[in-house]
Amino acid sequence: MRRRVLGTALEIAVPLAILALWAILSADSQTYYFPPLTDILDTFADTWLFERVGSDVVPSLVRLGLGYGIAALFICEGLISKRNALIGHVAVDPHQATRFASCGLQFLAEAGVAGLVEHYSEGSEIVLPRLLAEGRCFDLAFVDGNHRFDGVFLDLAYLAGLVRAGGVIFLDDYQLPSVARAVSFFTANLGWSIEETATTDDLHHWAVLRTALVPPERPFDHYVDF
Ligand SMILES: C[S@@+](CC[C@H](N)C(=O)[O-])C[C@H]1O[C@@H](n2cnc3c(N)ncnc32)[C@H](O)[C@@H]1O
Repeated sequence: MRRRVLGTALEIAVPLAILALWAILSADSQTYYFPPLTDILDTFADTWLFERVGSDVVPSLVRLGLGYGIAALFICEGLISKRNALIGHVAVDPHQATRFASCGLQFLAEAGVAGLVEHYSEGSEIVLPRLLAEGRCFDLAFVDGNHRFDGVFLDLAYLAGLVRAGGVIFLDDYQLPSVARAVSFFTANLGWSIEETATTDDLHHWAVLRTALVPPERPFDHYVDF
């Protein structure tokens, strides 16, 4: 028993002693290759903790068109079942209170996941540029808002700046020419790919897009017909 206690004490004391020695020996260091330990810890904290946890580490989702919140509930269920409780979920819907009597938000509250959702009651054409200006970054976007060509095109153009490189954009109603045409600009010009489309139902398709891992270099007049 005594040996085990001594062993555990050594396991804690030795690394602490090494860190203390490292801190003392490096305290006045001016060299780039052997900076003071305190500088290393400060930089580590600035880079990986606090403000940047939200943008760099926590997986996040931006959803356009909350509606009745059915798809949102499925996504929350998936995230929770993967024990990924630290999600950031932004939902944008200008008609939630008027056309949907806030049913989507109410369902989320009843399911106990309202705390995961940051809701904006303006159109995506207003919210997305604001999120972009705030430097927000998302892993996944779910587009099911304004289905006209100009609405979808604008959503995707802003999402090009909001979704991380190699991120995923799920699009509902891909059977609509307006939606498919808007997507084709981004696959033809920005190196996005279509990973999967639904084929089971003739009347209702969806598509999963992957944004480019390395966005292509484009001259100022670059244009590929789509
Ligand atoms: C087909 S419904 C979405 C249904 C939803 N996916 C669900 O699971 O219940 C389309 C939604 O897009 C919203 N919408 C319409 N114009 C929008 C815009 N400019 N920005 C964001 N959402 C918009 C509508 O209010 C509506 O909630």
